Amino acid sequence: MTTTTITTPAPAQASRAASRSGRSKHFLMCRPEHFEVTYAINPWMDPTTPVDVALALAQWENLRATYERLGHRVDVIEPVEGLPDMVFAANGGIVLDGRAMAARFTHVERQPEGETYRTWFDEAGSTPAVQATNQNEGEGDFLVVGRLILAGTGFRTSVTAHREVSDYFDVPVVPLELVDPRFYHLDTALAVLDESTIAYYPDAFSDASNQTLRERFPDAIIATDADADVLGLNAVSDGLNVVLTDAATGMHEQLRDHGFNPIGVELGELLKAGGSVKCCTLEIRP
Ligand code: ARG
Repeated sequence: MTTTTITTPAPAQASRAASRSGRSKHFLMCRPEHFEVTYAINPWMDPTTPVDVALALAQWENLRATYERLGHRVDVIEPVEGLPDMVFAANGGIVLDGRAMAARFTHVERQPEGETYRTWFDEAGSTPAVQATNQNEGEGDFLVVGRLILAGTGFRTSVTAHREVSDYFDVPVVPLELVDPRFYHLDTALAVLDESTIAYYPDAFSDASNQTLRERFPDAIIATDADADVLGLNAVSDGLNVVLTDAATGMHEQLRDHGFNPIGVELGELLKAGGSVKCCTLEIRP
């Protein structure tokens, strides 16, 4: 089943929604042709649970079609056999100001993806792409908010990688420490909704990082346990439309209350590898 639910804001929220506007974005995605769960590098993955590739493909195609319907451009990178997690394109790197830095993966199973994504960036971009020298899982752990990058660490991306990214893109980086293994990448615990608005799940972060988040984003949307547990924060926003799992019903409601337009998709097969909407989506910023 691949369903897309587009809900119309109630009249009370309509004025707030009117003040928000979506802008067209450019994404890179990778079809889950070779998707499987044969190893476990996060607590969501259980190699004994069967995966339905046809269903994964249908769910992924629905996500791609949803983006295109919203007016976004989607490029696709050729999937490589033997790299089942390559569908999670967000981890491929960071592209900002037309410059690309490809990932350097933590686990040996995903390491070849770094060079595969670097080659794609190199061929697609006008400036040569580099590959990170430090452990860096791309947009899984680096989320751009306006002219700031929020950077996760604790499970995958290293603190030295934060410095490397800040120097390379000449953008300040705010380090955030993840403490719950279920939320091993920053994009599983925090969603960027526009240039200054985020949603996050406090329990995924250390006390110090919670304080940083509260100070910098006092108006943030706070996710419930139930929404975080279905990766409801693994979302992609264009400033108005927010694409996220349809299972995060509380988050849908909170987004609507804040004038956003939540769009639910079903990505249950990919959740078996610990990924959802944002994981499948890398933003190419010109
Ligand atoms: N199985 C993948 C891993 O553990 C999932 C990656 C999800 N991607 C993300 N951006 N959170 O690396």
